[in-house]
Amino acid sequence: MRTLIKNLLNSTEPQEAVTVKGWVRTRRDAKGFSFLEMNDGTCLANVQVVVDASLPGYDKIQLFTTGASAVISGNLIASPAQGQKWELRATNIELIGPADATYPLQKKGHTSEFLRTIAHLRPRSNLFGAVFRMRSKLAYAVHQFFQERDFVYVHTPIITASDCEGAGEMFRVTSLKGNIDEKPETDFFSKPTYLTVSGQLEGETFACALSNIYTFGPTFRAENSNTARHAAEFWMIEPEMAFCDLEGDMQLGEEFIKAMARYALEHCAEDLGLFGKFVDKTLHERLKFVVDRPFVRAPYTEAIDILHKSGKKFEFPVQYGLNLQSEHERFLTEEHFKSPVTVYNYPREIKPFYMRLNDDGKTVTAMDVLVPGIGEVIGGAQREERMEQLLENMKLHKLKPEDYWWYLDLRKYGSVPHAGFGLGFERLLMFLTGVSNIRDVIPFARTPGNVEF
Ligand code: 4AD
Ligand code: MG
Repeated sequence: MRTLIKNLLNSTEPQEAVTVKGWVRTRRDAKGFSFLEMNDGTCLANVQVVVDASLPGYDKIQLFTTGASAVISGNLIASPAQGQKWELRATNIELIGPADATYPLQKKGHTSEFLRTIAHLRPRSNLFGAVFRMRSKLAYAVHQFFQERDFVYVHTPIITASDCEGAGEMFRVTSLKGNIDEKPETDFFSKPTYLTVSGQLEGETFACALSNIYTFGPTFRAENSNTARHAAEFWMIEPEMAFCDLEGDMQLGEEFIKAMARYALEHCAEDLGLFGKFVDKTLHERLKFVVDRPFVRAPYTEAIDILHKSGKKFEFPVQYGLNLQSEHERFLTEEHFKSPVTVYNYPREIKPFYMRLNDDGKTVTAMDVLVPGIGEVIGGAQREERMEQLLENMKLHKLKPEDYWWYLDLRKYGSVPHAGFGLGFERLLMFLTGVSNIRDVIPFARTPGNVEF
């Protein structure tokens, strides 16, 4: 029987005859015995193993090198040494897979850039073990949050024929050879198809039947922007609520981020400790702030006003009718409000066709939640539920109604006000861990020119 190191270290009393399986982090030889630090990835901490020189097989202790895998049996006793509660006195040691001196994770203190080049081994490092344990915990928390609120989990398709965001940043999916644009009707699906940028449109159909739904799956964007917060493949969470307006949408978004911060503080303490120490010293303070304080809200026009009056020199222009750039978003949340902020009611020209037109005829019911260190983490809206208006929006965005006939049917049969948003899971993780590059919170990053592993 194998005992996970996490459970072993959580022991409340000594234990006899336990077995751990894992990888050697370090070995230190002393006179008459050796120390092995063993880790199995179930927690950040290693278990210290004491191997007496009299143990059968000790003559092979030199093979228990950093990176090697081993099975160790022994007795768990209170450690006489400082810095740990328990240690394992080995009664049997077995080498499973050796690792020679070329094992790249010999020393501590590698840069994240270097570790990206060994993405197949980096989960064995302290930092990335913590990141990916936390990613798993948070994925669970996402489901818990929505399931507790009676949201139905919907699996929306990955291959699609429609461009939800209308930004044209889609990856083509085809089985054709040669010129794939020549005869799209001969392609696998009889028309051009893409990897989805968002499950929203399909999500709306389910909200207009099951009331409250959410998606949580991979999405793809072919935007060629080499930034620290854009990936070509990322995971998005998209709730959609029938009989809901922009106010209800903003409330859910804010509540959701707060709940995720609270969950991290309550369930990921050991790993957060590592981030707080080595990645971002202000992390705990920030998470507590997010849990305790209401988010600030500002209409887009006010945000533009603030940026104008800031006296800051921005790289990109600030002007009504232009999108907020990352530098503007970060100024608002980090320097001006010093708080997460929800910006809403954006000019219709810069937002997709599906957003609801406000009575002013100029703005739409869009909302973006901006957080310190990241900028936009949520983008959402109340949807245009009025057929006439939606058709007009589509005209403005040069979309053909016949391509969206099923989406329009939602407005034809029992249309309801509804709203939803998309939250980028990796951006949330960056916010909750303090890790500043999106490549370091997804197991295998897909960015321009990068598809190894
Ligand atoms: O603001 P976006 O483009 O909104 C939508 O796709 C809507 N259809 C969502 C909805 O209303 N159901 O994207 C939503 C979020 C962004 O706020 C950001 O967190 C994340 O998805 N995101 C990305 N994350 C990583 N890499 C990228 N290239 C991203 N693009 C968007
Ligand atoms: Mg957006």
